Amino acid sequence: MLATAQPVLRRFWYPVIPLSYLDAGPQPFTLLGEPLVIWLDQNGKPAAVYDSCCHRQSKLSRGIVVDGNIRCPYHGWQFAPNGQCVVVPQQPQSPIPESYRVGSYPCEERYGYVWVCLSEAPLDVIPDFSEAHDPNYRIIHAFYEVWNCGGLRLMENAFDHGHHHFVHNGSLGDRLNPVPLPYDDLQETERGIYFESPLYTHNNERLQKSVHISDSSIQLKRQVDWYLPFGMYAQMTLPNGLIHTVVMYATPITDDQTQVVRFYFRNDTEADTPAADAIAFERRVLNEDRAVLEATNYDAPLDLRAEVHISTDKPGMLMRRKLAALLSAHGETEQLRRGIHAFPA
Ligand code: FES
Ligand code: CO
Repeated sequence: MLATAQPVLRRFWYPVIPLSYLDAGPQPFTLLGEPLVIWLDQNGKPAAVYDSCCHRQSKLSRGIVVDGNIRCPYHGWQFAPNGQCVVVPQQPQSPIPESYRVGSYPCEERYGYVWVCLSEAPLDVIPDFSEAHDPNYRIIHAFYEVWNCGGLRLMENAFDHGHHHFVHNGSLGDRLNPVPLPYDDLQETERGIYFESPLYTHNNERLQKSVHISDSSIQLKRQVDWYLPFGMYAQMTLPNGLIHTVVMYATPITDDQTQVVRFYFRNDTEADTPAADAIAFERRVLNEDRAVLEATNYDAPLDLRAEVHISTDKPGMLMRRKLAALLSAHGETEQLRRGIHAFPA
């Protein structure tokens, strides 16, 4: 499925940039192939419009913010957060036609990130994570980086126990014992899928620092929600009572580039575990995932006949079914990268 070629994916919310990045001025971001400029308006609220001036198509993101509007670097026209041009310095006396405008998008701040939906009619809401309102939890902004892979590949990788024993030998997995634990209670939900599963993790120094467990291997409880199309919430409960929750979005920049947004909620404190130690274990694991995903065809086909599957692919198969159902419910057919699939079309 080529995400940029499926209009229905424009109707979901995606985290695009840490809010703090906007302190340095307007920032460009490409979402589903669409160039945006994002900035802070006069009230400190983020705004997002199409990053191309309606006058001569200059990049607004190269401009500056004036009175809460984005000012084009070329002739100095100013655009309000709703995309309407409000200042044309060359014609101060003339009324400004309504057609002097650029597309604007719904834009919100949540969990320290700017979230954008490319449609005025979103099909979902930004998830409400209860930990964000619970004083027993802190938030750790762990990763914000671009991977050269597709969003669906990244999502299903996060739920695929089958690769742990190879890609993560010595960190999460053990190549000599490659049979993974089963997924319990895998079910479809309105927003995606949910399952609980135990997970084995093989101990090492970084993991000890991150979760304070020194057994040689740990079985932890995991509850996972996948949010259509590219979001996940995974709550892991360790035997010592630590709850480490990972929220990850694979925000689609283009079909082969993904903005990884990954943060944690944890019920411990900085004195218990410095954030850097909490992150260090995953840094190794994610580098291992990244290396293999960037060497994998970025276009994951939804048609289950196009690749072959084993039991650990269950979450990924369900994702594909849900995505296929979403497309068909909106009258779309799956668009694919030509000529490079596992089975001849
Ligand atoms: Fe933007 Fe002329 S191109 S004001
Ligand atoms: Co992995």
